[in-house]
Amino acid sequence: MAETINRKLTPAGLPGRRGKISSEKPGNALRVFGRIFTYLGDQKLSMFVIILLLLVNTLATLSGSYLLRPTINKYIIPHDIAGLINMIAVLLALYIMGSVASMIQNRMMITVAQRTIHKIRTDLFCRIQSLPLQFFDSHSHGELMSRFTNDLDNLSDSLNTGITQILSSFLTLTGILFMMLYISPLLTIVTLVIVPFMLWVAGRIINKSKTYFSAQQGALGALDGYVEEMIRGQKVVKVFCYEKNALDDFEVLNKDLRDKATHAQLYSGVMMPVIQNLNTINFALTAAVGGIIAIVKGLDIGGLAAFLQYSRQFGRPVNEISNQYNSLQAALAGAERIFQIMDEIPEKPDEPQAESLQKINGDVEFRQVSFGYSPANPVLKKISVMAKAGQKIAIVGSTGAGKTTIMNLLPRFYDISEGQIFIDGINIVNIKRDDLRKSIAVVFQDTHLFTSTVMENIRYGRLEATDQEVISAAQLSGADSFIKRLPKGYLTILESDGGNLSQGQRQLLNIARATIARPSILILDEATSSIDTRTEIIIQKGIDQLMKNRTSFVIAHRLSTVRNADEIIVLEHGQIIERGNHEFLLQLKGRYYQLYSAQFD
Ligand SMILES: Nc1ncnc2c1ncn2[C@@H]1O[C@H](COP(=O)(O)OP(=O)(O)OP(=O)(O)O)[C@@H](O)[C@H]1O
Ligand SMILES: [Mg+2]
Repeated sequence: MAETINRKLTPAGLPGRRGKISSEKPGNALRVFGRIFTYLGDQKLSMFVIILLLLVNTLATLSGSYLLRPTINKYIIPHDIAGLINMIAVLLALYIMGSVASMIQNRMMITVAQRTIHKIRTDLFCRIQSLPLQFFDSHSHGELMSRFTNDLDNLSDSLNTGITQILSSFLTLTGILFMMLYISPLLTIVTLVIVPFMLWVAGRIINKSKTYFSAQQGALGALDGYVEEMIRGQKVVKVFCYEKNALDDFEVLNKDLRDKATHAQLYSGVMMPVIQNLNTINFALTAAVGGIIAIVKGLDIGGLAAFLQYSRQFGRPVNEISNQYNSLQAALAGAERIFQIMDEIPEKPDEPQAESLQKINGDVEFRQVSFGYSPANPVLKKISVMAKAGQKIAIVGSTGAGKTTIMNLLPRFYDISEGQIFIDGINIVNIKRDDLRKSIAVVFQDTHLFTSTVMENIRYGRLEATDQEVISAAQLSGADSFIKRLPKGYLTILESDGGNLSQGQRQLLNIARATIARPSILILDEATSSIDTRTEIIIQKGIDQLMKNRTSFVIAHRLSTVRNADEIIVLEHGQIIERGNHEFLLQLKGRYYQLYSAQFD
């Protein structure tokens, strides 16, 4: 997830604060901007006040500079000390007014920005929670994470200061031009010739260094990604003695980063002072030409001083605009990606006539069900399964046959393309999704544990369960004995997806989670695959207990656990090739017989 790593890499003065140099552009900046604007909501009045304050600040700064003219002409040259003190008081008042306006404006803007970001973040998270699993199959975690980190961060920066800075720069620039023209049109022309030239030179230097910095960022990203992968996969690296190769690969990336970073830093280190010097030259040139005009055309000294002040200020807003422009583009591009996720189609809402199910019996029927994760690749072909309430149906078959897929369809993690699934005779598309899912508990093949206590992790199955119920569920599912041996028992905090537990222990917790849910339908997908056979025999009792009076579907490679199933379904390449109970299938001497004898010979 190299893209989520932010580093302070850029030297002061270069565009792309926080090393986020980006040449990306939003597809439709105006539309994105409009959409952000809708998020301002009731804060539009605040925005209005902010713009007013911006105007006050700009006017104060500009008129402060202009007052140099009367100060010099009327008071300094004629040696009028009292008048000068008065003037200084006026200037002071002006600057204080400007500063206060700017302070209030910044404060208000940050509040507005953070409220807006808060709203966008909430909406984004809500949308992600409502998206179908299909969406997550085609978007990596890293990619989604970077919407929440990088993209929101960029947008937040731009809203906090970027937008008002651009606005204020535009105002200042217009004001300065106006004032310069007012003081001396001729000198303004001189400045307008010199300054753009300087800006052009500076722009070229900055652009060039941007390329170098982008290269540096790219190399850094590659290195980061590599380091992360090697740290995560350290066990695999060690097992396959890959250390030497890893070091070699790292060296290549490291050298590349060194070269590019040296280039970027050298360039900015050497060229930045050049830009500074250019400014000084500009100032000297304007002053010299101004001096000549003053002598020949009779421009007053105060006017010249004020003019020079303005011409010095001229470059700043231009630089500011060009810097902020890049950040703003990056922010808008990020915002566009955020909005793209918000526009993803959520899980289909329940049909208006959807039934709400309070207590279900547990009759399940798959009728001629076909399904593929993508239309081009059908995974299941015309599957029909009947389970009477309370029956135990086992699904066996080789890896990739489609066992997990069948079970993904019952809680409607994915919607089927052909056929129907019924629960208690009602087509599941006509059942409220929440009710449907509440009546089914799934013990997944790959489980997830949240960063929280053991107690809370089990309670996830049914949030209103009491502590006592949690403990009974753990006892029933055989998890109790190992939980008691944890440092803090049920209050032990599990971290990073239960990394501090063994695979089998994680499975036990998951079975406990399903136990506490008290579902009408139970799905166990390789629920005991990582549990040792002795413990399995012990908890098998618990599981049998759990399955009593419930319709259950059991997927297992270890066939000993499915012998007592009412029906065993053998799946191959998405099709049912054999079905029947254990004895029947053994007599059939088909696929099941082969699998079974392979395990017990
Ligand atoms: N989320 C997904 N997106 C696309 N294809 C998938 C997805 N999950 C599974 N598949 C494909 O569907 C097929 C069936 O996978 P499934 O997980 O149902 O197999 P399985 O029988 O449970 O195997 P195993 O015994 O290894 O758990 C496989 O070919 C797999 O590549
Ligand atoms: Mg599976």
